[in-house]
Amino acid sequence: MTGGLFLWLMMLQLNDDKQRVLDATDLVRLIGDHIALRAKGREYVGLCPFHDDHSPSMFVVPHKQIYHCFSCGAGGNALSFVMNFHKMAFREALEYLAQRGGVKLTPWRPAGRSGAEASGDAEETAGNERCELLSANLTAFDFYRAILRHPEHGRAARDVIERRAISPEMVEQFGLGAAPEKWDGLALTIAHKQLPVGPFVNGGLLKAREGGSGLYDALRNRLVFPIHDQIGRVIGYGGRRLNDEDEPKYINSPESAVFDKSTTLYGLHQAAQEIRRTRLAIVTEGYMDTIACHQAGVKNAVATLGTALTPGNARVLRRLCDTVVLLFDGDEAGRRAADRAVEVFFAVPIDLKIAMLAGATDAKDPDELLKREGGAAVLQQIIQRAADPMTVLFRRVRASLEGQGLSAQTRLVDEFLARLVDLGLKPVDGEMRYQLIVKRLASITGVAWEAIADNISRRAAQRRARATGPAGSGPAAETARPTLGTPEHLLACVLCEPSLLLSLDEGAAWLADRCAESSPLSGTVAAAAARVLQDGGTPGLREVLVALEDPASQRLATGLAAEVERLTEAKPDRVAAHWRDRLASLRRELSEPRHAAPPAESGEGGGEGGAGEDGWSVNDEPEWATLERLRSLRRRLGDDPAAVPRPLTG
Ligand code: UTP
Ligand code: MN
Repeated sequence: MTGGLFLWLMMLQLNDDKQRVLDATDLVRLIGDHIALRAKGREYVGLCPFHDDHSPSMFVVPHKQIYHCFSCGAGGNALSFVMNFHKMAFREALEYLAQRGGVKLTPWRPAGRSGAEASGDAEETAGNERCELLSANLTAFDFYRAILRHPEHGRAARDVIERRAISPEMVEQFGLGAAPEKWDGLALTIAHKQLPVGPFVNGGLLKAREGGSGLYDALRNRLVFPIHDQIGRVIGYGGRRLNDEDEPKYINSPESAVFDKSTTLYGLHQAAQEIRRTRLAIVTEGYMDTIACHQAGVKNAVATLGTALTPGNARVLRRLCDTVVLLFDGDEAGRRAADRAVEVFFAVPIDLKIAMLAGATDAKDPDELLKREGGAAVLQQIIQRAADPMTVLFRRVRASLEGQGLSAQTRLVDEFLARLVDLGLKPVDGEMRYQLIVKRLASITGVAWEAIADNISRRAAQRRARATGPAGSGPAAETARPTLGTPEHLLACVLCEPSLLLSLDEGAAWLADRCAESSPLSGTVAAAAARVLQDGGTPGLREVLVALEDPASQRLATGLAAEVERLTEAKPDRVAAHWRDRLASLRRELSEPRHAAPPAESGEGGGEGGAGEDGWSVNDEPEWATLERLRSLRRRLGDDPAAVPRPLTG
């Protein structure tokens, strides 16, 4: 056969295969396995997985067997969907869909598992690397499964499975296996099969001996938990020690071209259907807990991979359900993980709840609880009573501010905001969720909400600049704005409108002290302003700059003035309003030793639909929130002997 004819026949076959695979695929079911879809007329809609979708813009059109995102423009057929979603090469996608639809592909080419004979392009090569890794993981999967059944080598693992009362159904469903107590169990099997070792090394299944040559098994004498991706391919492993003396307790596969820990959830393949059905996902802390949940009928349970929940995890879950309950053991690590997870969810809009075992049971984890009589019912209760994340998060901020001085508080709030922004919190004009966060923060910290909103906007802008602009380039560094606490805002107003300092009842020295408490550098600038005033000068930026000596404080003075100019568009009446506003905040902060809650009539609100300087809507907090805040304040002042009692009227 000539080359041309060969190619031509191959193309025909390929087109035929492609058509048969597409014919055998129900696109709505395929996409519906990946994201939650709702019927809308003759079509289906869901959150687009190819961009950060906020309202469903992905349309699936059954009679055309195509999908299209009206927001980002992604679109195509079943093949393009899996190629894009799973970053599969064409052949990989074709094989996956063929297997899914029960289609036998023409064995025209060696069925994709090796060789880049079709084309040498980068995509194909990357596709091959993934194929090889998946294939290596599959070989290991068969090996570990076989060992678990082995009379001698699998005994220790079977004993643990029995002791932990893992049912045979769960062993099957989760594909549990065993690594033998040998250095070369898997290595020898690979050698016997004459398989290339590269992918096993890349996948972390085999390790190179230190210094010398030769390879050894990464997992030895362990109960093996295969980690699947959402469509059930084995992409990595967790291995739990069978002998308590071995360290560490778990060995997990390293990340690879097929294993991205930040987006993978253990058990998602097994749980996805139930998560979609119930529109709820339960996220546990461990492999064992996930399996115990499934065994107890809680089939929408998954686990993070030994880390806190990541934004990637959250995005995956958001496409499948509305609500995520984080189920934590409640020990210190669990509490920290919960806190961090809350922050992650600021970056990913999903309804998040946090459930702690501690307090409801003395069982150390869901696994232990579920093995008890009536444990499943207790677990259900714990899940149902899961707390609103805001409550959990703000409880922590409040606790960290407790008993701290003003400058320490400013710093803590600042650090906290910085972390939130780093985690992806963005000011979204008019977005309820964002405004709620700002308001609650303001009410807890006693910092004016505009200061918080400013801080977030500024940090978000800096973060954007960092992400897009050349690192450390001159202009970017110059436009970086200073951090403004309330005293700095006042100082900045003075630099723009020096007469304001004259109007200050407490006097210029008082402001200098407040600034010094906030940061030494702004203290220096404020002291210079006070000196200028005392010497009969006008403490505007120009004169203050002259009075200052070191470049750092001069830079700060300029930055402060620029910031207030930006906020007020340099309009004198707006500068004055800003001054009055911040002055009220500062006085309030100082009159409240614990800074837990500013009075509801903070003067920044001004009723429904008022707009702040940056166009923020400044609705007062809802009545229930005010009540709740005052109630908790009362409670705390009542209980805490260290609290300074003060009248709670208003
Ligand atoms: P746990 O120590 O709570 O283990 O770690 P577990 O899953 O409850 O296991 P048992 O019940 O003690 O047998 C929780 C999770 O943290 C990760 C694993 O994902 C584990 O499931 N982990 C833990 C590691 O990755 N490495 C470790 O050394 C320990
Ligand atoms: Mn456990």
